[in-house]
Amino acid sequence: MKILAIETSCDETSVSIVIDGRVKSNIVASQAFKLHAQYGGVVPEVAAREHVSVIIPTINLALKQAKIKLANIDCIAVTKGPGLATALMVGVDTAKALGLALHKPVLPINHLEGHIYANFAGQFKISNLKSKIFPAIILTVSGGHTFLTEMKGHGQYRLLGETLDDAAGEAFDKTARMVGLGYPGGAQLSKLAEQGNPAAFDFPRPMIKSDNFAFSFSGLKTAVLYKIQSLGAQRSALIPDLAASVQAAIVDVLIAKLEKAIIRYKPKTIMLGGGVAANKLLRKRFQILASRFQIQSSIPSFEYCTDNAAMIGLAAHYRLKNKKAKFPASFSAQPNLPLK
Ligand code: KG4
Ligand code: ZN
Repeated sequence: MKILAIETSCDETSVSIVIDGRVKSNIVASQAFKLHAQYGGVVPEVAAREHVSVIIPTINLALKQAKIKLANIDCIAVTKGPGLATALMVGVDTAKALGLALHKPVLPINHLEGHIYANFAGQFKISNLKSKIFPAIILTVSGGHTFLTEMKGHGQYRLLGETLDDAAGEAFDKTARMVGLGYPGGAQLSKLAEQGNPAAFDFPRPMIKSDNFAFSFSGLKTAVLYKIQSLGAQRSALIPDLAASVQAAIVDVLIAKLEKAIIRYKPKTIMLGGGVAANKLLRKRFQILASRFQIQSSIPSFEYCTDNAAMIGLAAHYRLKNKKAKFPASFSAQPNLPLK
């Protein structure tokens, strides 16, 4: 099965060729620094216009790198949401046009399902793989979402809990903005955190003790804002300490909830997904947790953490391979992942 996958849910135009579950190319054209940094966030209208200008060259490059002709593609996979409507529409319309022209099926894929399937890129080995992968528990942490899912098999999801307000990535980004780092700030903040003291500020760990799998990060954001305001002139010297302390608070909560899920559901494997999965501290603590429970673990390589089309192609590949997985019939169908 030769899949051409398209992802345009936010500010990355990405196209990937996935053949028999192997990623042959994964082109990501990011607009973040070139277009949105000056506004401090993604401007939907600007994002959509840029997707329109680069989508065809990106498709051509992905085909060229994979050494395959468009006519030999069997199926087109595309992110149907969640994301910015104007940005999504560029990918969806391009996929529909290609499907019509080539007489090939178009598979709508949930973006969050894609983040989960970044774990199946094959570029890594599931460490200590001794038994079956499933049941697995996946911690997905991105700029817009934070949730824990149990997977009993391919395409079979159960949502254990999600954030009640902001996503963890949003807490990273907003803190970065408050201390004057540009957009996108999460990665820059975590870089600065490497030189800071994580115990310098005692930020709240929201819902860390609650007996459920829900998260909440908006209160943390407010606590950080008040702390920054109270620092006055000392502020710039303390930015690395602030960054390290916020990062520690976010990662503590994520790891504590994952640990609770491991104890309760006893998965065979734990996986990580989403842009924040690129965070080095989170990756390290995740691996420590896995070895403590002697459990199989998987973390996508960096290129598959933030938005990319390979993860969409992989989700499509496993959807087509597994009869039990639900296959949404049209773009208006509900995603099979039980998320908003
Ligand atoms: O998955 P993604 O690319 O887009 C969404 O689906 O939201 O995730 C982007 C998020 C942003 O909030 C960004 O700041 C965060 O991932 N991020 C990081 C790191 N790299 C990206 N957060 C913390 N540490 C990083 N190294
Ligand atoms: Zn994403």
